[in-house]
Amino acid sequence: MEGRSVQSSEQRRDALVERIFASCIGFMEILSIYVGDHLGFYRALADYAAGATASELADASATHERYTREWLEQQAVAGILEVESADTVPEERRYLLPEGHDEVLLERDSLYYVAPFAQLMVGLTRPLPAVLEAFKTGGGVPYPEYGKDMREGIAYGNRPMFVNLMGTEWLPAIPDVHERLQADPPALVADIGCGAGWSSISMARAYPKVRVDGFDLDEDSIAEAKANAEAEDLSDRVIFQVRDAADPELSGRYDLAIAIECIHDMGRPVEALRAMRSMVSDDGAVLVVDERVGEDFTAPSDEIERLMYGFSIVHCLPVGMAEQPSAGTGTVMRPATLRRYASEAGFSELEIVPIENDLWRFYRLVR
Ligand SMILES: C[S@@+](CC[C@H](N)C(=O)[O-])C[C@H]1O[C@@H](n2cnc3c(N)ncnc32)[C@H](O)[C@@H]1O
Repeated sequence: MEGRSVQSSEQRRDALVERIFASCIGFMEILSIYVGDHLGFYRALADYAAGATASELADASATHERYTREWLEQQAVAGILEVESADTVPEERRYLLPEGHDEVLLERDSLYYVAPFAQLMVGLTRPLPAVLEAFKTGGGVPYPEYGKDMREGIAYGNRPMFVNLMGTEWLPAIPDVHERLQADPPALVADIGCGAGWSSISMARAYPKVRVDGFDLDEDSIAEAKANAEAEDLSDRVIFQVRDAADPELSGRYDLAIAIECIHDMGRPVEALRAMRSMVSDDGAVLVVDERVGEDFTAPSDEIERLMYGFSIVHCLPVGMAEQPSAGTGTVMRPATLRRYASEAGFSELEIVPIENDLWRFYRLVR
């Protein structure tokens, strides 16, 4: 009985009912944040210091008053917005975005900006019928089928960490890499599985001499990455290409090859790591940044494991299984799994870099 619950079956039943009910409320509030974000409600409300009525917000956001009023009432009931004079007629109530909540919902450079996770959650649901089918057949669901919400949710969910931490904490924590990126001749960096390019852009911003080549298999991500580099005025030093990480063509050119939150998504992670190994010069560095899951399977487990297994069953495993044969890694790539992949790819060692981060672990693969 060790580790098993000593609750009665009724207690377990009631606890699960309560938990599922609370999750339903959380799920609907995520959908409401998606609505508020996409229709520009939060952005518009930020301009009303004394709060806005439903008709003012509807005018400001080009939406229908009745729908907007229902959303405002829901947001106030959920405690996301505050309401002035709740006891007046519905049309006259004023709704405010409280200080603090504006940072979470609107400030895209803040480490507390989590509105994109609502978009990501919605993106996860898009190909659910195909995911169910994959469970039966053992096939997969290609990344592009998750669409724009998934792509943008990942890009803007991760972006605050890149713009705030890449050049101030993460790379400076690896002194030889930090020095090389500052030195002459200008260093060349390969960003594998770069998505919409914010990691590449952040490295180029932090190290004004370097050139970054970002590679991703997803055409829409690369198109967005190019547009982002252009808008940041960095397209001369940050170049994006649609390319499979497992493509062995680029050998010996790079001072740093980095793969952020993507090795676990790949059907052929060993081939990708082997390609990264061959990409870097003799004294070049290979870094993998991936989920900070536990060393071992434990159940029940903590929030990180719950989050990562949640992603895994509806997204990362199906994406990785879209390529066959597949390693079938899933989001929960434990250090031992990556150590095995690295060894099969020809690396002699896998070091864990001591960088604090709630979500990610930093690995250095030694040639
Ligand atoms: C979770 S996203 C992470 C994107 C980006 N690194 C970030 O942190 O925002 C995973 C990315 O890996 C890319 N990817 C998956 N398999 C790939 C492969 N074999 N070669 C290149 N990119 C790949 C996907 O297209 C996707 O953009």
